[in-house]
Amino acid sequence: MIKDEIKHLIEARRACVGVIGLGYVGLPLAVEFAAKGFRAVGFEVDAKKADAINRGESYIGDVESEAVGKLVSEERLRATTDFGLLSECDAIIICVPTPLRKTKEPDISYILAASEEIQKRLRRGQLIILESTTYPGTTNEVLLPMLEERGLKLDEDFLLAFSPERVDPGNPQYQTHNIPKVVGGCTDDSTEAAAALYGQIVNDVHAVSSARVAEAAKLLENTFRAVNIGMANEMARLCYALGIDTWEVIRAAATKPFGFMAFYPGPGIGGHCIPLDPHYLSWKARQHGFDSRFIGLAEEVNSRMPEHVVMLVTDGLNDAEKSLKGSRVLLLGVAYKKDINDVRESPALSIIDRLRAKGADVRYHDPFVPEIRFDDAHTESAGEPLSSVPLTNEELRAADCAVIVTDHSGVDYKRVCALSGLIVDTRNALDRDLRRDSCARIIRL
Ligand SMILES: NC(=O)c1ccc[n+]([C@@H]2O[C@H](COP(=O)([O-])OP(=O)(O)OC[C@H]3O[C@@H](n4cnc5c(N)ncnc54)[C@H](O)[C@@H]3O)[C@@H](O)[C@H]2O)c1
Repeated sequence: MIKDEIKHLIEARRACVGVIGLGYVGLPLAVEFAAKGFRAVGFEVDAKKADAINRGESYIGDVESEAVGKLVSEERLRATTDFGLLSECDAIIICVPTPLRKTKEPDISYILAASEEIQKRLRRGQLIILESTTYPGTTNEVLLPMLEERGLKLDEDFLLAFSPERVDPGNPQYQTHNIPKVVGGCTDDSTEAAAALYGQIVNDVHAVSSARVAEAAKLLENTFRAVNIGMANEMARLCYALGIDTWEVIRAAATKPFGFMAFYPGPGIGGHCIPLDPHYLSWKARQHGFDSRFIGLAEEVNSRMPEHVVMLVTDGLNDAEKSLKGSRVLLLGVAYKKDINDVRESPALSIIDRLRAKGADVRYHDPFVPEIRFDDAHTESAGEPLSSVPLTNEELRAADCAVIVTDHSGVDYKRVCALSGLIVDTRNALDRDLRRDSCARIIRL
């Protein structure tokens, strides 16, 4: 049986593992397989990325260049733009982007492009796994017919599964090996082979009955986050109106040992997952005449947070008898979350847009993001590129308002508190002692 042949290769670590798309998801995965003794080949459309990997240079924060260099020199890892090499791979994992169209509908064109490359070279004995986040049904309804088009048959010739990715960039506690992996195949044999493959690199594989269940589980996870962050954001706005400290409220509620899970407000949601993934679910829901109201509401609340942050800045300046127009506003952090360099969908971009539209002189400091080019940032934002300014004492003193948008760990918040006149803290980055000792006016979300 094809399943046994593939499992045999996997268990002997003789399988060649191909990873299509060497980004935040694909690169760590390829490195992990290579580190466990597999021969890993990364397929990229971006030749610069492939060249960097082959030179032993990582461009992803969680992946050390040293580890890449070692695996490349041992000929266990290589990157290529030559999709012809797909035929050498026993397992092929697709990790390409799944953005939204302007209409907020799923854009699975990258999955289709990757699948076409596989389709051209599919041979007997290959295990194909989709990892890109997508709507339930993609693996069965889109990939399977494409792969069977040239006459090869599922289970008899090849296997096909979906396994969602849960990587949390910048999280030192949870990395590939200790994040449980959900696996759902289009057939039981596919599930078993895919589970055997991931079992080589992760401690805990959770097999489910179908690819659809695995696809839906991923969307539930991220929709759960979007909805609960929306709830926390709504609470923050309400608490601001009532003059109550939101963070103290959440801290108090979180002492309940059951039935409560703490989520925190912020300047808005960002990254390639939480703002996008729920739309994959609501789109699929609409196909079935179903209106997913939680998703719509969460998006509405979360997408208004940048506007709320600008209002806090305006209020603070107003109290100091200054107008936003002409004021210098210094954003601290522009990445969508702490200690990473990713600005995709970052709320900072929308905040910058809004501040600029109102005539503020906007600058930013982010140790992870040297420059923001708005065209590359996958947002509606526009305007001149901005470069990170050094966080000098002069910079802090010259700002009419400092806005903590991303609470990067390396920033000296004590100095920020000592030298700023007005601070808007959207992340509760300033603890009670800092706030008490500071002469700055501090407005918290
Ligand atoms: N970034 C995360 O934290 C995260 C977490 C879980 C799931 N995901 C999901 O994983 C998938 C990949 O996300 P990512 O963050 O790694 O994206 P990314 O943009 O960092 O990486 C994708 C890579 O794929 C390459 N690519 C695009 N089309 C290609 C093709 N046809 N062939 C080969 N390479 C191609 C791009 O050049 C890029 O390097 C998405 O579906 C995303 O939703 C991401």
